[in-house]
Amino acid sequence: MELTWFWLTVIAILAGSLASLATGRKKKMPPGPKGIPILGHLHMLGKHPHQDLHRIAKHHGPIMYMQFGFVPNIVVSSPQAAELFLKTHDLVFASRPPHQAAKYLSWEQRNLIFGAYGPYWRNMRKLCTLELLSTLKISSFRSMRREELGLFVESFKESSKLHVAVDLSAKVSSLTAEMSCRMVFGKKYDDKDLDDRGFKTVIQEMMKLVAAPNLGDYFPFLGVLDLQGLKRKTKALAKVFDDFFEKVMDDHVRAGDRSDQAKDIVDTMMSIMQSGESEFQFDRRHIKAIMLDLLAASMDTAAASVEWILSELLRNPTVMKKLQKELEQVVGLKRLVEESDLDQLEYLDMVVKESLRLHPVAPLLIPHYSREDIKVNGYDIPKESRILVNNYAIGRDPNVWTDPETFIPERFTGSNIDVRGQHFQLLPFGSGRRGCPGIQLGLIQVRLIVSQLVHCFDWQLPNDISLEELDMNEEFGIVVSRANHLMLIPTFRLQN
Ligand code: HEM
Repeated sequence: MELTWFWLTVIAILAGSLASLATGRKKKMPPGPKGIPILGHLHMLGKHPHQDLHRIAKHHGPIMYMQFGFVPNIVVSSPQAAELFLKTHDLVFASRPPHQAAKYLSWEQRNLIFGAYGPYWRNMRKLCTLELLSTLKISSFRSMRREELGLFVESFKESSKLHVAVDLSAKVSSLTAEMSCRMVFGKKYDDKDLDDRGFKTVIQEMMKLVAAPNLGDYFPFLGVLDLQGLKRKTKALAKVFDDFFEKVMDDHVRAGDRSDQAKDIVDTMMSIMQSGESEFQFDRRHIKAIMLDLLAASMDTAAASVEWILSELLRNPTVMKKLQKELEQVVGLKRLVEESDLDQLEYLDMVVKESLRLHPVAPLLIPHYSREDIKVNGYDIPKESRILVNNYAIGRDPNVWTDPETFIPERFTGSNIDVRGQHFQLLPFGSGRRGCPGIQLGLIQVRLIVSQLVHCFDWQLPNDISLEELDMNEEFGIVVSRANHLMLIPTFRLQN
């Protein structure tokens, strides 16, 4: 074993030196910090890579080259640079890098999120956008969302009477999980239907595995050895999902045809499969891959966004009061917020944007991948580089944001900047071909949950913790959530 390590190290050093000699001579690579043999710059990343990359980019510029193991990375950290990668040259950067965990969790890369750019991904994306996440489809789940939110509000009333703290983070995460399940599967499954560990735990375990730094991704020749045991764990998890999704599909076959209005997402996909009308091969494996994509993409993103917004509102009581005032004016104090109210809640919109600026829940988007050699802004970007767009840095760029570290929703007054990927200083959903196809649904969920929480309750920190003491530590993953759950005491404020 020791001898193997010796030879692996020698090969790695030789390959690294040859590569840098080859590239260094002819090409003008973007600037970047000095790396070390084998690791490249991997050692410069700690528990919060988006923050580390932000700090490093301050010295090396908005288009920066870094080598993680054998993998070249381009780190993009300003709105102008993001526009070059996600708009001007979007087609070149619209792929995703190979990713070991994703490979085992995507029914041999049949999913959308990690799918390489090509006709297959384009077809799947079209199907998702037109059939599964269309305005019509999203509206058809409106009454389900209303029902779930009603139960959610009720669940806090007891704690309000007793004046005891609730784990708001856990509650919001259950709510988004239940909404996602009902939308995708048509019903809530019992936790034990998936696995003894329960539904949310298994999904979160998957998100952790996908985000875990895997040596096999950075040093492909180490992949087969599976030194961290990640491949083994991922395969076991993939089996759990496979068994469960097969059961879900069998349940749908048994339930038979439903009217269009009552169709959940699995129904819709199964009709497409049975009709044989899709423009590409579409079988049970594709349905399973999309089920997992939609669950993974919708559960944590919305919940983490709500957590951060509530945290900022608590730290900024005048903003909280102003938002409650807007809700009182538009909704009154006698009823819950309805989806149809959302368009009139302008201040809510500014609060959401400001929080997504400071706390983009996908701070490095999902890595993009260059499909060919290309020159960008005078720099050579090699084929098969990973592109990390640092949303966290972009939202704090002092050239476009005054007082960037401060939470000021009013900065959006009279501004046309929105979050839909047209304004490169604010990209919480990404932009271009790979931009989030669930943006409309995501925004509805986030605005609806935040407005309901703020409208129905006043919130207070327990145990006389002062607002200054509320920690804002992050837990890094594909989705960045609060490191510590938000524990708060609710006081019901409606008149009924
Ligand atoms: C607040 C909620 C959400 C946020 C902040 C968010 C953010 C993002 C971001 C940053 C990306 C990567 C963009 C890129 O790589 O350029 C993404 C991709 C994606 N999102 Fe969302 N998302 C949210 C909700 C949703 C929902 C509700 C769904 C669907 C049910 C969804 C489905 C997807 C899919 C399928 C992709 C992959 C697209 C592709 O690779 O072609 N997202 N999202």
